[in-house]
Amino acid sequence: MPQRALITGITGQDGSYLAELLVAKGYEVHGTVRRVALEDPAHRLARLHTVRDKITLHAASIESFASVFKIIAEIQPDECYHLAAQSFVSYSFDDEFSTFNTNINGTHFVLGALRQLVPRCRVYFAGSSEMFGKADEVPQNERTRFHPRSSYGISKVAGYELTRNYREAYHAFAVSGILFNHESPRRGYEFVTRKISSGLARILAGETAQLALGNLEARRDWGHAREYTEAMWRMLQQDEPDDYVIATGETHSVRDFCEAAFSHVNLDYRDYVVQDDRFFRPAEVDLLVGDASKAKRVLAWEPKTTFRDLVREMVDADVRAIAGHESHASEPRTTGSGGFSSELKAQSS
Ligand code: GDD
Repeated sequence: MPQRALITGITGQDGSYLAELLVAKGYEVHGTVRRVALEDPAHRLARLHTVRDKITLHAASIESFASVFKIIAEIQPDECYHLAAQSFVSYSFDDEFSTFNTNINGTHFVLGALRQLVPRCRVYFAGSSEMFGKADEVPQNERTRFHPRSSYGISKVAGYELTRNYREAYHAFAVSGILFNHESPRRGYEFVTRKISSGLARILAGETAQLALGNLEARRDWGHAREYTEAMWRMLQQDEPDDYVIATGETHSVRDFCEAAFSHVNLDYRDYVVQDDRFFRPAEVDLLVGDASKAKRVLAWEPKTTFRDLVREMVDADVRAIAGHESHASEPRTTGSGGFSSELKAQSS
């Protein structure tokens, strides 16, 4: 009997890489998707094109306990990767209430349903380096105090604490991955890295002359999403459940990302990038950089893709896509406004 895995948020960047990994490992893979995605597969299931006929998708709403309960009862998974969330930090400032509803209740529903229906199921919760927020130590590790700076960050702290409590109170094999930013050509267009790579492609194609961004000095620890999904899987293969930081240990500013992207195509970002107040956040996380030494020691996990290679891969993919050769994304291209689109809600990062 193959192992059976359930991925919530399977249509997102991480969900699609994880689905590919689990299919390659011989798992029977199930994923929850919003009904609207099943009705528009060309766009919304595009990231799953390599595995679409090897996985089973179920229409479900992570915001409804009845819906989550029904799917888990039906699938009876051995492993559950709970990735579905409202994952765009900026949007959480516009609508704190629905961010809490999706992210906190969604996680509680998954944990609660698994506890009742399949207590042996191993469950992964997608924690985030946004939980550290205004961190008081650099780099951040599993013992660093949380100081979230957005309702998104707060919702992830709540999910992390719920996961820990299910582990301690009910002996669930429940783990949190504290993942730092992870990117790829499949990244949603609203996140800054993809906004830069796709904006640059549009500039090269003559579709626009400028790229408007917010805070160029914010620093992040950017890794490759495909490698981060491998870490998720490894966390569920351990003898004991535990939480792990997943990061590269390197930090770069948004400005560095612009510089690397534009210089890759022999342009100077200063000729194209403008700062626009609309894209600044009410409370910013200035610096995130992770210490993944525990993951290296226990999971034998290490990042491989360098910052420069990640930037190049994203730029090259967007330049090819705009020339009409291929597309990696599930959403229609935005105009680089960076604003929230209701289509993106409840997708994993
Ligand atoms: N999105 C966006 N758009 N961000 C901008 C812009 C812009 O125009 N200009 C500057 N930034 C800055 C943001 O202020 C932030 O400091 C940084 O770029 C990264 O923003 P995002 O790419 O939106 O990601 P994030 O760091 O807020 O959150 C991502 O990483 C988390 C892990 O730390 C998301 O993937 C979260 O879901 C994830 O948990």
